Amino acid sequence: MKVMECQTYEELSQTAARIVGDTIKKNSGAVLGLATGGTPEGTYRGLIRLHQTENLSFQNVTTVNLDEYAGLSSDDPNSYHYYMNHRFFQHIDSQPSQHFIPNGHADDLESECRRYEQLVKSLGGTDIQLLGIGRNGHIGFNEPGTPFESRTHIVTLNEQTRQANARYFSSIDSVPTKALTMGIQTILTSKRILLLISGNSKAEAAKKLLEGDISEDFPASALHLHSDVTVLIDREAAALRP
Ligand code: F6R
Repeated sequence: MKVMECQTYEELSQTAARIVGDTIKKNSGAVLGLATGGTPEGTYRGLIRLHQTENLSFQNVTTVNLDEYAGLSSDDPNSYHYYMNHRFFQHIDSQPSQHFIPNGHADDLESECRRYEQLVKSLGGTDIQLLGIGRNGHIGFNEPGTPFESRTHIVTLNEQTRQANARYFSSIDSVPTKALTMGIQTILTSKRILLLISGNSKAEAAKKLLEGDISEDFPASALHLHSDVTVLIDREAAALRP
């Protein structure tokens, strides 16, 4: 695991955008694994800037997102479909037919998980997977206790995660209780992983990750089992770094 410390969130975001941009420059048909949440917003802004100022083209790129809430339609402003469309896809030249996000509104969520897992497999896995981390160490929506061999599955969100995400909803009661997520094993099939850790609230999780113990009680620790992980961490999140 390679750790790169950045001074600020802005520097972290620009560095992440450069790394993803370089992946596309080397392989215009790259498959990008994407995340939502607050942390990658600056990375998406950075990639949009590279598109506008350096002609970085996404025309042949395929994107697969990590997760989606169950029960929200793709045009619900709180869905990850909506997040991706508004914060990223609408501002670049990628093909909508090449954007994949689990369908949280499918009639049969179990079969949607199987379909999504098969889809990731048929793309040959992702070339680079962008990840954030939850305060409890979750990656995607894989909460503590999720088996490392898990594939795309339905999860019940724990209270800490629902509280953390309530900032986007009108009240905690409107935060869905379930979600679909790539499993930990699905994430580990990516050729390269880029984990972004930003802010004071993630300092404990960063410390735990960088201490290096591997346990299903701390999902992000599975990343120690992968041979090409880069952690970009800003100064605030690195405050307790061992
Ligand atoms: C989002 C995701 C989550 C977030 C994590 C951190 O697609 O999979 O694991 O990366 O909850 O969220 P933020 O960045 O909002 O702190």
